[in-house]
Amino acid sequence: MDLNTLWWIILVSLIANYTMMGLVSGNIAFQVKHKYGGREKSLSRLSTLKGHDVRRHGRLLSALELPLGGNGAPSETGLYYTRIGIGFPSNDYYVQVDTGSDLLWVNCVGCKNCPRKSDLVELTQYDPQLSPTSELVTCDQEFCISQFEGQLLPGCTAKEACPYKVTYGDGSSTTGYYVKDYIHFERVSNFNQTQDANGTAIFGCGAIQAGGLGSSSTALDGLIGFGQANSSVLSQLASSGKVKKIFSHCLDSIHGGGIFAIGEVVQPKVKTTPLVAKQAHYNVNMKAIEVGGDVLQLPTDIFGTGDHKGAIIDSGTTLAYVPDAVYKQLMTKIFSQQPNLKLELVQKQFACFVYSGNVDDGFPTVSFHFEDSLTLTTYPHEYLFENEEDQWCVGWQNGGLQSKDGKYITLLGDLVLSNKLVVYDLVNQVIGWTEYNCSSSIKVKDDQSEATYSVHAEDLGLASTFKTGKLVTLCISLMLLHILLF
Ligand SMILES: *[C@@H]1O[C@H](CO)[C@@H](O)[C@H](O)[C@H]1NC(C)=O
Ligand SMILES: *[C@@H]1O[C@H](CO)[C@@H](O)[C@H](O)[C@H]1NC(C)=O
Ligand SMILES: *[C@@H]1O[C@H](CO)[C@@H](O)[C@H](O)[C@H]1NC(C)=O
Ligand SMILES: *[C@@H]1O[C@H](CO)[C@@H](O)[C@H](O)[C@H]1NC(C)=O
Repeated sequence: MDLNTLWWIILVSLIANYTMMGLVSGNIAFQVKHKYGGREKSLSRLSTLKGHDVRRHGRLLSALELPLGGNGAPSETGLYYTRIGIGFPSNDYYVQVDTGSDLLWVNCVGCKNCPRKSDLVELTQYDPQLSPTSELVTCDQEFCISQFEGQLLPGCTAKEACPYKVTYGDGSSTTGYYVKDYIHFERVSNFNQTQDANGTAIFGCGAIQAGGLGSSSTALDGLIGFGQANSSVLSQLASSGKVKKIFSHCLDSIHGGGIFAIGEVVQPKVKTTPLVAKQAHYNVNMKAIEVGGDVLQLPTDIFGTGDHKGAIIDSGTTLAYVPDAVYKQLMTKIFSQQPNLKLELVQKQFACFVYSGNVDDGFPTVSFHFEDSLTLTTYPHEYLFENEEDQWCVGWQNGGLQSKDGKYITLLGDLVLSNKLVVYDLVNQVIGWTEYNCSSSIKVKDDQSEATYSVHAEDLGLASTFKTGKLVTLCISLMLLHILLF
């Protein structure tokens, strides 16, 4: 669907309603010309503004904690989610946490094909009409123009709603329009008291959901992207000086939930590797793969560092996808100590086998080596998951994720990211991790109070006992289509 068609669908079916609901007169923000306006070209103007904001709010940087729920097991929830507040008064929304995309969106009242029921959480739809602080983002606003490559969206007049559409790698999509409202987080503090930390941000008001986002037993209210783009909530809060552009997660695949925090991690210390510059995702340079102490002999272009090469770190993806050449060697090595096991294909996608021993004794560890000597080790109990009693399935997937230039991509999801503290330091453009007990706590610095606080593990409910009874459809929230189209 091209943008014009999309825009028409959205506008005709929704904006009419939005207008009729009476929001236009009261709450639309008419563009205010601020004093920096029109002085320089837009890019440098933005950075001037940002510099201004950061100086002004220089002492408002606070550290935030996001409670986590869910787990990475494909036989259970296959995803991690958090709770955020939106609007005034604030209502709670449960959203999937995803580092492979940028936007925050939630299902809005009246949306088409939105989930009504979930086995994980109680669903809530955002109603802009019930939040007096909600504003429609119109096509003439800078945010909207920046979403469409610096152009005014053709056919969208200045005072009409700015539409969005995100298609995820699993084929699901969300379509709607942008709104701006207060987003509420919990500020880290002592003694488990929750303090409201809020800021305004632009996010998607979901109008039409398609694919897995429409309905599933693990449906949520939306998704929060922690990508690097300016449109992510993190970037928006950082550019208004509310937070530092550093966040971390510790996903607990054993108990469910874990730790998610925004702010500088003081403890534990992590080793880091540089992020590949100018990538849409969190790409890092992979140097080697080791299985049970043996380094795989692979073509060098697997480890390329240019566009769309290397490895992508993506918490919104359940499993881990490796290029065909890696997959074949990986599987051979993993099963080399177990020549008698018979592999069978379950649900047309998982290689499974019967095994009654301790998998950590019977199978090798798999380590990925990255630039600056950073290693990511995955244990058998992490890359193998138990589907039924004594039936184990392999989490590694033959990616076949091929970009147009023929180079291959490795996509590392929750399968390998769990049970580690992973720190995304976007200020210094590095990413790092260390093996960690995700049921414990980390120490985060709050720049506003200049104190360090503990952020404890949390588990938002049902997830630890939740079983779908069926392997979940793989969540590849990364915008693979985007990559494939390049
Ligand atoms: C994002 O914002 C920064 C400044 O706030 C600017 O320098 C950068 O060019 C923007 N990026 C895009 C893709 O618009
Ligand atoms: C805060 O909560 C965590 C987990 O809920 C708990 O382990 C910890 O002891 C609590 N800390 C205080 C100071 O109450
Ligand atoms: C935002 O947070 C501040 C400080 O905690 C509070 O005074 C204010 O009322 C909050 N704003 C909204 C809209 O909730
Ligand atoms: C992880 O931390 C929790 C909370 O401090 C503790 O109860 C548990 O025993 C720890 N687990 C391991 C394996 O050390």
